[in-house]
Amino acid sequence: MIEVKNVSKRYTGDKMVVKDVSFSVKPGTIYGLLGPNGAGKTTLMQMTSTLLKPTEGTIEICGIDTVKEPLKIHKLIGFLTTEVKLDPLSTPNRLFDLFYALYDLPEEEHDQRKAQSFDRFGISPFADKRIVELSTGMKQKISIAISLIHEPPVIVFDEPTNGLDILTSKQVTDYLLDLKSQGRSIILSTHIFSLAEQLCDDIGILVDGRIVESGSSKELTELTGSANFEEAFFKLYSKYHTEN
Ligand SMILES: Nc1ncnc2c1ncn2[C@@H]1O[C@H](COP(=O)(O)OP(=O)(O)OP(=O)(O)O)[C@@H](O)[C@H]1O
Ligand SMILES: [Mg+2]
Repeated sequence: MIEVKNVSKRYTGDKMVVKDVSFSVKPGTIYGLLGPNGAGKTTLMQMTSTLLKPTEGTIEICGIDTVKEPLKIHKLIGFLTTEVKLDPLSTPNRLFDLFYALYDLPEEEHDQRKAQSFDRFGISPFADKRIVELSTGMKQKISIAISLIHEPPVIVFDEPTNGLDILTSKQVTDYLLDLKSQGRSIILSTHIFSLAEQLCDDIGILVDGRIVESGSSKELTELTGSANFEEAFFKLYSKYHTEN
């Protein structure tokens, strides 16, 4: 369960880049943050993952406050960001082993969990290759496998299909649907309508740091009297966006 309550964020100066955002994500559901570049998606996800502190408001993961008990939160969430890079000279095998040890996971399950995780994404044939030699898609799949190594109940994925071809994108989206059916609570950020529409139970439309409307793609389409979800987004964006 994820509870974001009245969260705002200011980096420097006066400008709030996230403004009074509230939403909750129940187990077995995917919440999508859909917004253009600079809307505040990454900032919100970094606050959810304890990398940034909210200027105002609170975030709770499974009832635990992210600011008060960040170490507990690390065990509960899997976080994937566009900004973390894998060590180019390491290998999938070594990275998996490193993170497995860091999370202090059961030694006797190591081999089975690695095989399961690598097989899920076809990583096994590349397990001893250096990261620098691998494709963008393979690197992303390794990042996903590692971000979920501790099988967290809460998953926070920032633009997980960015830069991927349609085959790899489909593997990632199928995996997210699997994770949802296992009862995980998932937040996903994207600026791709079809992804939000296909995966998310609820979508928050983020414009200039504010969630201006939320609901399922169907609800948002109906609410705005639009022919499709893309049109609904543009209507909401032009209604709420202000030049500043
Ligand atoms: N470290 C920082 N210091 C100051 N301002 C920042 C910082 N990081 C982001 N911002 C600003 O905060 C706003 C929100 O940025 P953020 O990266 O959260 O948006 P986003 O929705 O993830 O965009 P994108 O689609 O480009 O990834 C932008 O105006 C950005 O310039
Ligand atoms: Mg971003």
